[in-house]
Amino acid sequence: MASHSCPVVRHGPNKLTFNSAQALQGEIGPSRRFGYAGAHHFEVDIYNNDKIIKSHVYSACQLEPGVDSVFSVRDMNDHRRKRKLIGQALAERSIRTFEPLMVEQVDVFLGILARSSQSSTAVDMTPCCKRLGVDIIGLLTFGRHLNTQTNPRYRFMVDNLSWANYQSNILFQFPLLASMGVPQILYILSYAEFSKYMKQLENLVMGRLAQDRDAHHDLYSVTGGAFSTESPKGIQASEFWSEALFFFPAGARLTISPRVAMCILIGSEIGGDTASTAVAGLFFYLSRNPKVYKKLAEEIRSNFSKGSEIQGPRLARCQYLRACIDETLRMSPPVSGTPWRELRSGEDGPLIVDGHVIPRGTQVGVSIYSLHRNENYFSDPDVYLPERWLVEDEAVRSKMNSAFAAFSSGSRGCAGKAMAYLEVSLVVAKTLWYFDFDKAPGRMGWLGGGSPRNVGRRGKVDEFQLYDTFSSTHEGPNLVFRPRGDHWKEIGVTE
Ligand code: HEM
Repeated sequence: MASHSCPVVRHGPNKLTFNSAQALQGEIGPSRRFGYAGAHHFEVDIYNNDKIIKSHVYSACQLEPGVDSVFSVRDMNDHRRKRKLIGQALAERSIRTFEPLMVEQVDVFLGILARSSQSSTAVDMTPCCKRLGVDIIGLLTFGRHLNTQTNPRYRFMVDNLSWANYQSNILFQFPLLASMGVPQILYILSYAEFSKYMKQLENLVMGRLAQDRDAHHDLYSVTGGAFSTESPKGIQASEFWSEALFFFPAGARLTISPRVAMCILIGSEIGGDTASTAVAGLFFYLSRNPKVYKKLAEEIRSNFSKGSEIQGPRLARCQYLRACIDETLRMSPPVSGTPWRELRSGEDGPLIVDGHVIPRGTQVGVSIYSLHRNENYFSDPDVYLPERWLVEDEAVRSKMNSAFAAFSSGSRGCAGKAMAYLEVSLVVAKTLWYFDFDKAPGRMGWLGGGSPRNVGRRGKVDEFQLYDTFSSTHEGPNLVFRPRGDHWKEIGVTE
């Protein structure tokens, strides 16, 4: 990981990770160009340049050779087509249509908190947020209620997500291991679990395809069935399956074939895992920063007069809430590592990034975590300070924005940003409407932060600790909820 004092780090053979806004998205002001002008070289930024594409390691995410998801595809024209289709499902307008279904799931989450509040039992927010994320994404992808929040039946599809993500990330970082038979061994070891998962996933996909296209507002209906469901090798080799798998955050706990592992890894990253990391992170920081908590609670409680009003454009206008979310994503970005890129074959080199001449065949990228801790862009980078996003000075704001990389940047940046903001806003604002909360007493309350026994970043007790698995694993925080007056009676108690 590039430290904030170090602008570029050799991450491995033929891999360089940068730590500047310039490498991320070019200079603010006149744009730079790539290539030669006589003897003069122009520098490039990594993520906003059509001469640079996703690194070859993303090909490992293909479900079958030649069957890509929007995430894995490297060819620019193919990507444009897929992104346009996925973009329809994730566009702000589509997400607004989907919002009532999301609210329904958030209400189930609130019911669970209501129940815990009656006995003052501490709630571990990581599993709660993950299940909520999976239930939401199950509806968005398959129009199907998985009910993992209340019913253990499908929880096997989300439990132990972290272990398989961890394995898959190793293959992503060290693709050579895939050719050394490591994934095959792991696959054999977990065959039974994997089969169970794939069977369940097939039921979900086939169940959806058996219904009318417009039966639900989901990936299938919005993309108009434009993704092919046909393949000589059956549904599991089809484009729709690949996209569904990419979205759907389940199953990544399984130790599986390298290809499927990668697809599922990415599915988990994209679908629900990233958003649930942001939700758990925001709960963590609120429970450690009483002034921020108070100010955010005031914003929510003064802007609405009923919990059921908390949604739509009024919620989107809550500026302090947005600042708290951005500050959480800055401090603990759910995708914290380096999205790798490389020069497209056939393009002239050399590539010049941040003044460094990069030989062809080198993977380059920006370390999201490091850039977010870079003092050149963020003063007191280790302090959780939502107010920094609301400063009046436009030059300061624009400098910070140029280095904010939580959703990456450019044409391959996150397609689900609107959905992510909506989900985090809804969950946290509604929770603050119905409840007050504190971190659990004693050692239980430490969960999620660094340990005082550790040195360096892992010793930071007030930093929500993430472990990079392309997306992230984490624990906690453990919180105790108290009902706010009688408001909770509106939501009911979930068993
Ligand atoms: C806070 C939550 C989220 C964060 C921090 C996040 C972050 C990211 C990042 C960093 C990438 C680029 C990865 C790369 O280049 O390798 C990405 C891509 C993507 N994300 Fe997200 N994501 C979030 C939530 C979501 C959600 C909820 C969805 C949809 C349900 C989604 C859909 C996508 C898609 C489709 C791509 C691939 C875009 C492309 O290659 O064209 N994301 N996300």
